[in-house]
This record gives sequence, C-alpha cells and structure tokens, in this order.
Amino acid sequence: MKLTLRIWRQTGPEAPGELVDYQLDDVSPDMSFLEMLDVLNEKLILDGAIPVTFDHDCREGICGSCGMVVNGAPHGPQTLTTTCQLHMRSFSDGDTIVVEPWRSAAFPVVKDLMVDRSAFDRIIQSGGYVSVSTGAAPEAHSQLVPKPDADLAFENAECIGCGACVAACPNGSSMLFVSAKISHLNVLPQGQPERASRVLNMVEQMDAEGFGGCTNTGECTNACPKGIPQSSIARLNKEFLRASLTGKR
Ligand code: SF4
Ligand code: FES
Repeated sequence: MKLTLRIWRQTGPEAPGELVDYQLDDVSPDMSFLEMLDVLNEKLILDGAIPVTFDHDCREGICGSCGMVVNGAPHGPQTLTTTCQLHMRSFSDGDTIVVEPWRSAAFPVVKDLMVDRSAFDRIIQSGGYVSVSTGAAPEAHSQLVPKPDADLAFENAECIGCGACVAACPNGSSMLFVSAKISHLNVLPQGQPERASRVLNMVEQMDAEGFGGCTNTGECTNACPKGIPQSSIARLNKEFLRASLTGKR
C-alpha cells in the first residue's frame, strides 16, 4: 500500500505543533498501525530526521499506553480496538491518514503523539485501591460474591486507562474512566471499607485535574476499546450521591 501520513509534530509541551506529511510506499496490510509507524521511524532515522514520538508498551491491547487520534477517531476507525490492535487492512491503498495526539487540557502533549496521562494516576492514587490485611492467605470463598456483582466488577475492571474516553468527549470528561474504577471496586465486598471515600476523593481529584463534566453525549463509550458502558456513569452518579448524603469519607 502507498500511504500519505499527516502526523502531528510538536517538539515539546510549550512548542507550537503542526501537521507534517510523510509518504510510505511499502506498507503491508498485515502490519499493525504501530508497526507501520515503526517503518516510518526507521526511514526517518536513516534520512537523519527526528523520529515520531509515540507511546506504546504491550502492543496487545492491555496496557492502555498507545492512544492516538487516527482520522479524527481515538484509536482509529475500528470499534473496540486499541491503536496497537488496529491493522493497516482497515485502510486503502492511496489513503491519507491523519494522526494526532489526544486533545485534552488535562493531557498535555509531551512530544508529537505522546501526552502526559499522569492525571489518571493521581485519580487512582486518590481512591482506586482496596485495603487488605496482609499475613496468612484467607480461606478460599470466605467472602462470597454474587455472580451478577462479580460479572459487573469484571466488566468494569477491563478499563485499561487509555484515555480515549477523554479524547472523544466534547467536554474532555473522564467520567467513564472514573466510573469504571468505581463500578469495579464499589460493588465488591473487598471495596466496602473505602466505598464512600473512594467516590468522593476520585471525583474531587478528577475535577482538580481539569477534566470536564459529563453531559451524556455517549462519545466516550463509542470510543472505548473495552466497551465500558454508559450505565457505569449512572452508577458513579448514584455512588457519589449516596456518599454525599452519608457525609462519610
Ligand atoms: S473507560 Fe475505556 S476509553 Fe476510558 S480509559 Fe478506560 S478503557 Fe480507555
Ligand atoms: S500498546 Fe498496550 S494497549 Fe496498545
């Protein structure tokens, strides 16, 4: 495949950025999107140019680090897919592909396609954990979890913290991400000691980081590679109201 890549280049957080065109003439449809960027970078290095900076780690859809906006869609045109799992067969010979970083005030650009997602880490630090007693291993099945609760927690534990929900949202809201963490931990017996403080602290940190509020546009769910549902946001609102009324931290 012959492709034109129109890629956002920005040398640093304060530098002005611009879209720059590159040509690739030998892209295999079986390459992943990141392998295609590797080929571009090898070419740029051989030409003495600066390679394109982008985040990646697992390359198998589980770490959440590879986010970028491809042709206006976070993680590209395919649903339920991370950028590393997107393949070039999703595009056609002769295409021009526009590649940009996540655009959100709370995710400042570090360089080119890499953004600083440490705001998510600080939200997790504020409440995305459970306290456990260390020592002897607990008796198996000593804490029974009803199957529907286990399924709900598991569905929401699939969130990989990629930030596509924020990039897709017209308000730059991180409600889907926070709601996945609340839905994962607040329904389990192990999550009960911090149930109220978790939701109050995480929402407070979310606001402090500069993320916007939810107006139910649903763009987050459409962009989410793990299919975290809108109903998780409803659960977050319910948990927040419940904790606010009890006044517990
Ligand atoms: S809710 Fe979905 S889009 Fe948002 S961070 Fe989690 S996995 Fe990514
Ligand atoms: S590189 Fe880990 S999810 Fe894409």
